Amino acid sequence: MTDDVLVVHGGTPLEGRIRVRGAKNLVSKAMVATLLGDSPSRLFDVPKIRDVEVVRGLLGLHGVKVTDGTEDGELVFDPSNVESASTDQINVHAGSSRIPILFCGPLLHRLGHAFIPDLGGCHIGPRPIDFHLQALREFGATVEKTPEGLHLSAPNGLHGTKFALPYPSVGATEQVLLTAVMAEGVTELRNAAVEPEIIDLICILQKMGAIIKVHTDRVIEIQGVKRLHGYSHRPIPDRIEAASWAAAALATRGHVEVLGAQQADMMTFLNIFRSVGGEYEVTDARPPKLSDPGQEGGIRFWHPGGELHAVALETDVHPGFMTDWQQPLVVALTQARGLSIVHETVYEQRLGYTEALNTMGANIQVYRDCLGGTPCRFGRRNFKHSAVIAGPSKLHAADLVIPDLRAGFSHLIAALAAEGTSRVYGVDLINRGYEDFEAKLASLGAHAERP
Ligand code: EPZ
Repeated sequence: MTDDVLVVHGGTPLEGRIRVRGAKNLVSKAMVATLLGDSPSRLFDVPKIRDVEVVRGLLGLHGVKVTDGTEDGELVFDPSNVESASTDQINVHAGSSRIPILFCGPLLHRLGHAFIPDLGGCHIGPRPIDFHLQALREFGATVEKTPEGLHLSAPNGLHGTKFALPYPSVGATEQVLLTAVMAEGVTELRNAAVEPEIIDLICILQKMGAIIKVHTDRVIEIQGVKRLHGYSHRPIPDRIEAASWAAAALATRGHVEVLGAQQADMMTFLNIFRSVGGEYEVTDARPPKLSDPGQEGGIRFWHPGGELHAVALETDVHPGFMTDWQQPLVVALTQARGLSIVHETVYEQRLGYTEALNTMGANIQVYRDCLGGTPCRFGRRNFKHSAVIAGPSKLHAADLVIPDLRAGFSHLIAALAAEGTSRVYGVDLINRGYEDFEAKLASLGAHAERP
């Protein structure tokens, strides 16, 4: 743990320009989809993050040859020799990510059986997989839970089904998509998640030969096909990372341009950013011409000076305010005048990180009630899932231990905004989802170093 620490000298506004690459929460799933093709796939703009390494390792174990392409960030996947891997080999990846659960459908199609290790991912609540397993059983899979992991088989093949999710889960929607595309017959999924990353996954599957209709009211209809081929795809940029840097600019009274950030995928965030008092400008991309090198599009975010304003917000599934935007923004809300309210409705335990902010001088109270919004699944269930943030508070340095990915980034922002020198332990966790974050911090003028 002592090596895994960043010493942060706070109080300097972040100033400059960084670039975000393909969205972590699309890229990892796009990699799983390569298993379904009978020819090679190409994925561009893949960030160098831990989740990508985990999926690359698992694909390799199952016979998918993964090589670097010619372009920086390009990966090529050759699935011509998909094969079974031993449970021992697969278990090396136990506890490292949640993506392995999405291997179920593709492996059942390719091999007739699948073994899924214990899942990892951030500790932000119980994170059950009941919707995933229920859906797989509806397709005709048998699931056996053992102490070492999940064993699945499909003795009679996988068949299209009609299924309604109890909640529009991102992962369970992806599970259904990755299974239904090659299941026999038609699948109708109701109450599906429709996050931009899901739509991009649908685009990839469509490029591979799938037939998928997205209807209104969260209904997705998939007509199974017998074979899919490889794809070539440039993923949507990471809107969570983009918002994290935007929040960092606001909390440190700085000015950060995020190249690659896309307005359409961040509209809800931009509305809140403006309501808090932050300013932004969308810069459109200009394609290169003979006489002009062109320009990459993005969004510039800055603190215009003066006071920030308190807001009330509620996290929700798309098109609502993303749960992953909440933690970085709360640091900026500690600097806003008045009482801000955050009602977390996606995860039941995603406000624990506020305790660390309080030790730095913030004034945040968490409540079990559904505050400031419509009652959610967690009301009266003993989960502290609403926060009231009283500001502005002067933040001072502290020793912090990073609890999970997004909360970790918020700790980092708090240390950058605080007066004095903080020690942030467990920073390697941030590499799970933020490519080169230390280099990006340095390029924005932050004073942070490994001891
Ligand atoms: C994805 O997680 C993301 N992870 C999360 O980002 C993100 O916060 C979340 O979607 C919501 O947008 C990846 O894409 C790898 P869910 P996922 O299934 O798919 C409940 C990050 O930091 N649920 O939409 O696991 C669940 O407990 C991560 O990048 C069940 O009850 O999220 C939660 O309350 C963190 N049973 C809600 O649904 C199930 O079988 C939403 O979860 C599945 C989910």
